[in-house]
Amino acid sequence: MEFHKVSDYHPPEFASSLAFAPRKRVKLATLPTPLHKWNLPGVPDGFQLYIKRDDLTGNFLSGNKIRKLEFLLADALDKGCGSVITCGRFQSNHCRTTAVAAKELGLDCHLLLRSKTMHTHCIVQTVSVKGTKELTTNPGNLLPSIFCGSQLYFVPVDSDYELDIREREEKLAKSIEHSTGKPAYRVPMGGTDSTGTFGYIEAWNELMSQDGFDKIDDIFVATGSGGALLGLCIGNYLTGQKIKLHGVSVSFDKDYYHNHANVILRELNVTEKRSEDLVDIIDEHLGGGYRKSTLDDYYFLQEVASSTGIFCDPVYTGKALKGMLAEMKTNPSRFQGKNVMFIDTGGTLGMYDGSLQTCLDGTFTKLAHTWEDPSDDPQPIN
Ligand SMILES: Cc1ncc(COP(=O)(O)O)c(C=O)c1O
Repeated sequence: MEFHKVSDYHPPEFASSLAFAPRKRVKLATLPTPLHKWNLPGVPDGFQLYIKRDDLTGNFLSGNKIRKLEFLLADALDKGCGSVITCGRFQSNHCRTTAVAAKELGLDCHLLLRSKTMHTHCIVQTVSVKGTKELTTNPGNLLPSIFCGSQLYFVPVDSDYELDIREREEKLAKSIEHSTGKPAYRVPMGGTDSTGTFGYIEAWNELMSQDGFDKIDDIFVATGSGGALLGLCIGNYLTGQKIKLHGVSVSFDKDYYHNHANVILRELNVTEKRSEDLVDIIDEHLGGGYRKSTLDDYYFLQEVASSTGIFCDPVYTGKALKGMLAEMKTNPSRFQGKNVMFIDTGGTLGMYDGSLQTCLDGTFTKLAHTWEDPSDDPQPIN
């Protein structure tokens, strides 16, 4: 399959009983991503950890969202759309990936961003002074979105999708169609709907052909809108693998996930099982809530990076990994077996949103040296 070429899509044999399959797929991600053992310190004796590197699906496309966008953006092109609209938080990985992928495909991108600092302005194409400061000091995921020329619409941080964002998106879609003569495609929140779910149905297919996957007893993944996890659940169920899946929720409680997942399962005609039968949702490690972390959380990320060279982000993978290790230590009976796979869903650009700077100072002084003259010895900075 060539990059950027929209092709007819044929689902894997195991998914042929589903009521629906996307008609098209466009290659955007670098696949397959590696699956390998991970010697992470702190894993209790008896467990063997593996990692699936979906943080390596691309550079600015990195992370799990691009797998869903291969189907969603192919659908947009198939429907003759000239632009895409989606929504997320100010530092959304999903919005950044959509912005970059859209441009690779020649589509314009419009992002509705829930934002604390800018909500009073509800700006269209105008950034307030306060906003500019925030952008220049902590750009994170926004930098690539802006570089790609996405239109940004800052909306109140607590805007509800059903009650508010949907209406704004519909209004925007109408105005774009009116001014450009082409429809705008609405990518669902987090890329999660029955089309986007095929991203991780296909990821399951990929895993089945990878060395080491036959040993895996349990899989852990960070869960937000739930599409990645749901695709894995469907793959696991339809292939009869019987791996135990655990979704570590970073934003919503169990009920939210199951309600949302059950709607998509019905749409796909998976009627014999409910989401509750297919997955263990762990919502006990939300910390203070979505995007809330402590200094200890940040030091944990630093420890993971300095001992293994793998970077987790504070919002998704860091929380999921910390939750998984806590369960291994305190609740080993939650696991089906000893070989556990963690899916690294990416989010690396979220590391540049400014939050991690709080733990840099102490580390910097421990690591940095000055060395003015080659005939002298390096001197520690302190
Ligand atoms: C880095 C990262 N990991 C995990 C997730 C959760 O994926 P999903 O929304 O499919 O549950 C997200 C969602 O934004 C993400 O950005």
